Amino acid sequence: MTFRISKLFCEQFRNLDHQAIEFHPGINCITGDNGNGKTNILEAIYFLSQKKSFRKNTGFPQILSADGEKPEILLSALYENDESKFTISGKMRSEKIDWAIDGRPVKRRDSYPAIFVNPMDSFSFHQVPGFRRSWFDDHFSMLDPTYKSLLNQFQKSLRFRNALLSKKPNQYLAQIKASDEQFAKINIELLERKKILISEIVLPINETFKSIFSMDHELDLKVESALSGMNTNAVLKLWSDRQENDVLRGHTTRGVHKDDYVLLFDGMNAFEYCSLGQQKMAYLSLLFAYITLFRYKFSSFPIVLIDDVSGELDRFRWQKLVAHLKESKFQVFITTANENFKMELLNHLDDAKHMEVCNGKII
Ligand SMILES: Nc1ncnc2c1ncn2[C@@H]1O[C@H](COP(=O)(O)OP(=O)(O)O)[C@@H](O)[C@H]1O
Ligand SMILES: [Mg+2]
Repeated sequence: MTFRISKLFCEQFRNLDHQAIEFHPGINCITGDNGNGKTNILEAIYFLSQKKSFRKNTGFPQILSADGEKPEILLSALYENDESKFTISGKMRSEKIDWAIDGRPVKRRDSYPAIFVNPMDSFSFHQVPGFRRSWFDDHFSMLDPTYKSLLNQFQKSLRFRNALLSKKPNQYLAQIKASDEQFAKINIELLERKKILISEIVLPINETFKSIFSMDHELDLKVESALSGMNTNAVLKLWSDRQENDVLRGHTTRGVHKDDYVLLFDGMNAFEYCSLGQQKMAYLSLLFAYITLFRYKFSSFPIVLIDDVSGELDRFRWQKLVAHLKESKFQVFITTANENFKMELLNHLDDAKHMEVCNGKII
């Protein structure tokens, strides 16, 4: 069942201090000028749901309020669905977080699915292969436990292999060879799983692209892998052919960690062919397609955090995006500092909550 956040409380989280905010179960519009705390609210929601920030390399020192009196952050949220409600709270004094559910301390707690998109993501997605890989790894892991466990095994084995290669490799070649067969199998399984998930997401991508943005073009997604079509022996041969190179570089140069993904717009690489606005529509279509697939798999929705994505889109696309959110059944938090987009949101969303943020406070 889909969980929604109905209340959020933050103490000493970035510039949000003693903030208790109530949310709408559907659409929440968070507006305000630059640097006032819109993204910080999304980060707090994400942190409570996913137990970590969406920003890379962000730890306790970064999120602790710079003006705080004591080194402690409190975050808590009321989660609700049709059947139950409970409060999750986290107290952070260093990198360690003490979690509690309904006030009772717990050693382990579940994560709740939340997806986040920020204005730079479309650029990064189209331009940076490493970003695409992490995007699919993170999102597929949330969608598919098999993918998550294969990815974990893969990463562990890759770290092990690279550690041996980076030491005195000639001493360890026998050890590498001994574990390569198992590693090759994991590579192949992970690639197969990836291809299944890609094929599942392709259909809704095209639909969202056409319906949300009225694009009369075909959008497609492909995975490119040096290991495509290979069996275990072929992968072992590839590694043995590359052994000298791998030893020289001190890491594994071929494997599914080097796979890439291409968004195709009418068969052309979207990054090379499309305008920035079209690239953003393609990226957002992927995101909404992911939400559709998520719902298909779990019969529930993630919490959706959309951090000012209005740039590069024309007014007609804003309207389409707003209309799509209005039709959607997930809880969404959408921010903007753009006055015109704000008016678009406020004029067309009657059943929604509007919050204006100023200096870390809702006014
Ligand atoms: N650890 C911190 N302590 C206090 N303020 C912080 C901290 N980290 C960031 N900020 C403040 O948060 C503001 C940025 O908030 P943000 O949510 O990104 O703004 P926006 O409304 O533009 O999304 C900046 O003014 C910054 O000074
Ligand atoms: Mg922001």
